[in-house]
Amino acid sequence: MKDSNTVGGSGALSGRVKIPGDKSISHRSVMLGSIAEGATSVSNFLESGDCLSTIGCFKAMGVKIRRSGKKVKITGAGLPGLKAPRRVLNAGNSGTTTRLMLGILAGQPFTAVITGDRSLCSRPMRRVSAPLREMGAKITGRDDGNFAPLTVTGGDLLPIKFRSKVASAQVKSCLLLAGLYAKGTTTVSEPQKSRDHTERMLLKFGVKLSVKGNKVSVKGGQVLKGTRIEVPGDISSAAFILVAAGIVPGSKVTLLNVGINPTRTGVLEVLSGMGAKIKLFNLRGGKAEPSADITVTYSPLKGVAVGGPVIPRLIDEIPALAAAAAVAKGRTVFRGIGELRVKESDRIKTICSELAKFGVKTEAFPDSMIIYGGARLKAAASAESHGDHRIAMMAAVLGQAVPGITKIKHTACVDTSFPGFFGLLKSLRKK
Ligand code: S3P
Repeated sequence: MKDSNTVGGSGALSGRVKIPGDKSISHRSVMLGSIAEGATSVSNFLESGDCLSTIGCFKAMGVKIRRSGKKVKITGAGLPGLKAPRRVLNAGNSGTTTRLMLGILAGQPFTAVITGDRSLCSRPMRRVSAPLREMGAKITGRDDGNFAPLTVTGGDLLPIKFRSKVASAQVKSCLLLAGLYAKGTTTVSEPQKSRDHTERMLLKFGVKLSVKGNKVSVKGGQVLKGTRIEVPGDISSAAFILVAAGIVPGSKVTLLNVGINPTRTGVLEVLSGMGAKIKLFNLRGGKAEPSADITVTYSPLKGVAVGGPVIPRLIDEIPALAAAAAVAKGRTVFRGIGELRVKESDRIKTICSELAKFGVKTEAFPDSMIIYGGARLKAAASAESHGDHRIAMMAAVLGQAVPGITKIKHTACVDTSFPGFFGLLKSLRKK
């Protein structure tokens, strides 16, 4: 597989593009479909490394899953129907696969081992292993169950009332999934509301939930009924194209069928606040997962302050916003972003190191970052992904807006979330 890419050239970006399916929703469709009763069919499934890891893990636990391109059919095994895997479950690069699946494994009467790549094995798992242990699961791994490879032996679970210190959809979803296996009602609360795809999808599978502000409760033992899931385009992937068109003078690009779940749309608000011209139209979908077409037209941007409850609503879009901040006039300050330190890379560190290669001045703090935008920028001769898909895409997008050719190393990781990204970006400039 090609592991480096070049970007650059001149001229505006234009076109209408379809963004690949949402990663978070694709993962959940396979997980909930696997523990449901009856058949689930999924359309516009994201054919990315991460989501294929989820399919691989559930197949290894005996679930019949057939995929033909973006269409997936799952024959549900029912809540207790998974089989003990004969081999180690490989979650690849995917934190979502690992953390959500741990919730399901906690309810199974067997032992399973889950591991992944180097980056995954260095990401903190105590945030889920500690509450799952409280519920009754046995979990072992390095640093007292904090790092994969993790061994989990599930079984009878007790419900829990858990107050998460971090606003994390992965923690919330893991515990709600474990809660399906517990005797009684499990409640999870979080300091700020994180993405709510699990809650929306559980409702779609016929599960009753109570949602009050940032608190969600689920009663164990409810049967999930197979259903149809249509996955909208991923706003986290769309963000890179939005920013590319937003920072290359003269550009106008339309992105089709992008998910606009309000727990994910912080990026649109911040870009608009920076002066980007963004228009939403053809709004569709009701409660399940709303989507829209989005047009972005180039206009000069200015720096802004980003912090508070919007952070979980754009946590994955900070690399894309960092590229916008690099060309915006003035400084952009991100506060309360400590979670970036434990993503696929330490993103505060990798954003700053890669922006520096373009001539951007930045300052990094434990949980904040300042980007001084608007300076004269140059192409990066040797940008580096650090194995992080979103850092590679940040460099690619910024590389489109500066004179000269930018070379980015180790770009194969982009496939974990946005297969075809480089081709799509290039096609916007081909006239
Ligand atoms: C995700 C939740 C977020 C996000 C990740 C996907 C999910 O992580 O960063 O890319 O699908 O639940 P946290 O929940 O850890 O913030």
